[in-house]
Amino acid sequence: MDRIRIRGGKPLHGTIPIGGAKNAALPLMAAALLTEQTLQIANVPDLADITTMLDLLQSHGMGVETCEDNGSNGGRTVTLDGSRITRTTADYELVRKMRASVLVMGPLLSRFGEARVSLPGGCAIGTRPVNLHLDGLERLGAKIEIEDGYIHARAPKGLSGALVRFPSVSVGATENLMMAAALADGETVLENAALEPEVIDLARCLVTMGAEINGAGTTCIRIQGRQKLGGGEHSVIPDRIEAATYAMAGAITGGEVRLRGIDGSLMGEVLKAIEVAGAAVVVEPDELIVMRNGPLRAVEVTTAPFPGFPTDAQAQMMALVATADGTSMLTEAIFENRFMHVPELVRMGADISVRGNRATVQGVPVLRGAQVMATDLRASVSLVLAGLIADGETTVNRIYHLDRGYERLVEKLAACGVEIERIYA
Ligand code: UD1
Repeated sequence: MDRIRIRGGKPLHGTIPIGGAKNAALPLMAAALLTEQTLQIANVPDLADITTMLDLLQSHGMGVETCEDNGSNGGRTVTLDGSRITRTTADYELVRKMRASVLVMGPLLSRFGEARVSLPGGCAIGTRPVNLHLDGLERLGAKIEIEDGYIHARAPKGLSGALVRFPSVSVGATENLMMAAALADGETVLENAALEPEVIDLARCLVTMGAEINGAGTTCIRIQGRQKLGGGEHSVIPDRIEAATYAMAGAITGGEVRLRGIDGSLMGEVLKAIEVAGAAVVVEPDELIVMRNGPLRAVEVTTAPFPGFPTDAQAQMMALVATADGTSMLTEAIFENRFMHVPELVRMGADISVRGNRATVQGVPVLRGAQVMATDLRASVSLVLAGLIADGETTVNRIYHLDRGYERLVEKLAACGVEIERIYA
């Protein structure tokens, strides 16, 4: 298995282009199932999760073409042709690789009256149920049965608009329901909807395809169902989690990085937390500049839905404050088991104790390079961040997790002066 080797100690200096958001691209690609026309999506990052979604869509009969974008951030344009969908089953083999596969359920069900999707099961960061997706689809009239590890959803006469009030906020359930409702009969109202920029991006694309959607980006989204949707062209928003990760890479090394192609309004509270940790952040149109001259300082952070501090940046923040002055508190309020990076950071010399969903980080003067590995994407990248300042050499193993969510990570960091290389197995 490939590994990444880092020799710590070099401050980051340079410009990092931010790619298209993985978590926006995945639902946008699933939305192509809603139409028999062609949906063209630009600024799609070249990542393993995107390949998994393309494989899944092809398994349903979707025509797929990809070509390189002209821009400098390495994105691709994916052209999806849903005119010959032949299969409404999403197999276990693909769903188990990526939980976001469940996003095909709403579109398949609303366009074809049926969807069979493997139950995603648990994953490294907790049980992650899909009850909110299923309860919502039932409100729109679907009959749902669980058979042989598959969710079998049926609506032979089509879905009907309804009021869906989510008991708790879910990004994926909001997206699945918005797509299903776009082809339902009548009006659907989603209450307690997720506010994430990726939800807004999906709504924009659906509107381009002919859907009528109001309120995306607020807690109440109204969707007037249409009999058909058309194709369209759409460009994926930049990846706010990739940007947050490199902002923290600049901050942890005491360097100065320019993050090109990111809109500060997508970042929510994460920038404030990076400033509290001792970095200066300048928000320019289409660019963020992050630098640090003074010491790293302790933070208190609790993860929350957008615009709160994102759970997807919690592991990176823990690496950032591992060498800060004072004691930091990081509370994980979204997922039940998202501290897998802690034992590995401790092996690098960090002083972290976990009680329930709260991690207490006592800053230490230095981290030491080590052999480390992690079981999820953001945990893995937090070990890369720690490696940037560790004494000596850090080798991050099992980097297929990084390939799921960070495009050209080694190249982007190396271009800013980091001694980093990928070792091919
Ligand atoms: C999305 C992101 C993921 C991010 C997460 C929270 C994608 C592809 N992934 O995941 O990177 O970490 O948002 O910002 O966009 N829940 C239920 N029942 C459900 C659905 C969710 O109990 O049916 C719970 C989850 O276990 C979790 C919380 O709700 O505790 C939030 O999860 P959700 O917002 O649904 O996350 P995802 O959409 O899976």
